[in-house]
Amino acid sequence: MKDVIEQLASGRQLHIDRLVEWLRIPSISTDPQRNGDVRDAGEWIQQELASSGFAARLDETDGHPVCFASWNGAEGAPTVLIYGHYDVQPPEPLELWRHGAFEPTVEDDNLIARGATDDKGQVLALVRGICGVLQQRGSLPVNIKFLIEGEEEIGSPNLAPYIEAHKEELTADVAVISDCSQFAPGIPAITVALKGHVYLEIFVQGPNRDLHSGSFGGAVENPANVLTRILGSLRDEEGRITIPGFYESVRDLTPEERADFASLPFDEDGFRDDLEVPQVHGEAGWTTLERKGARPTLDINGLLSGWTGEGAKTVLPAHASAKLSMRLVPDQDPDVIETLVSDHLRSLCPPSCTIEVRSHHGAQPVLVERDSHWLDAAARAVEKGFGKAPVYIREGGSIPVVSDLKRILGIDTILLGLGLPDDNAHSPNEKFHLPDYQRGIETAAWFLDEISP
Ligand code: BES
Ligand code: MN
Ligand code: MN
Repeated sequence: MKDVIEQLASGRQLHIDRLVEWLRIPSISTDPQRNGDVRDAGEWIQQELASSGFAARLDETDGHPVCFASWNGAEGAPTVLIYGHYDVQPPEPLELWRHGAFEPTVEDDNLIARGATDDKGQVLALVRGICGVLQQRGSLPVNIKFLIEGEEEIGSPNLAPYIEAHKEELTADVAVISDCSQFAPGIPAITVALKGHVYLEIFVQGPNRDLHSGSFGGAVENPANVLTRILGSLRDEEGRITIPGFYESVRDLTPEERADFASLPFDEDGFRDDLEVPQVHGEAGWTTLERKGARPTLDINGLLSGWTGEGAKTVLPAHASAKLSMRLVPDQDPDVIETLVSDHLRSLCPPSCTIEVRSHHGAQPVLVERDSHWLDAAARAVEKGFGKAPVYIREGGSIPVVSDLKRILGIDTILLGLGLPDDNAHSPNEKFHLPDYQRGIETAAWFLDEISP
């Protein structure tokens, strides 16, 4: 194995060059104008895998295509399914980027570009590590399948049907995903929980047109006032969500789980200072790590009404809308919560306006089985690749495919985060720490070694 690792280490610059090329493609899945670029990014990874000895194809779906690749030469050995996504979030606000979002730039030891950590950099680390082993050895010790999609950032709407349709082909013993973070610089982690997700859009309609706020104000209901009153009532002063039934199926943390949280070396002052907030905030009775990792949340993600341009315009807006997202924990069910919250929102609308609630994507919460030889093997691989044993953490983000892999294929997922908490995923100046990219590449190779029969 040492020879393989040395070879991977000497390929450092090539690994970076390949990532830079991929990051130049603006594969923004939510923007229909970028459909061609999204496809190009899918083709790029398909070719990368094909040229490394994998049987790789780009499969059509009702949305963006899926890259599937496999190497099945290790008869009798386990099969690992690697999932990742090649789509990215929109880069806006553009003026806050120090360089073009799709002009990857190295600053110190970081590669800066949209998608650097989420998820192109992380998935390419696994790809380069595994392909490196295949190229040097001529074979792999286990069977590998890659499933790399282009719709994760829009909720993976076509992935579950794709997995259903390719069930036989996707059969595997375990899945590995690198699409989250380490706990802190120098503290690698394996993620053991992800939150579920419900995303709603609320439209409140008032009069049929914008009105003079003097002539009509006070006599006609203002939909912006109504919407903000509704939204403001959804959380109380203790940070608890007020929607009846919302907490009903939330699984309580055991004393051991709370002790696990407390044992992590969390730098709360550093967390606060980095964000330049006067203090941290959340549901009373829980620590910051518990709030982030194990308590459900409700956040307005967008708010739109009335005059938002320069200066003042006296107007009573015709409509107001908001995007509302809720992060769920075990055992909350996104479908149940969606109905509960939508009904509650409708019940809060006064007769002087009308309200419409539309649902976007959902995702199930995830809790990984800790007692698993796969997880132990991954921990040993991380220890070799990063030089330090991982801690086990819970993350607030969502990866919709994890529950689909369990439900449809019956397999568990190892969440092997290579990024850092301050990598600016979804924010301006997204980055990936290049030494972590290299460690991730080597960890992938070690993992194959650890699970080989
Ligand atoms: N990589 C993230 C998920 C993530 C973020 C996991 C932080 C762990 C920590 C993923 O690309 C993502 O952004 N997912 C969306 C899912 C949503 C669109 C259903 C999310 O969490 O907002
Ligand atoms: Mn991601
Ligand atoms: Mn993301």
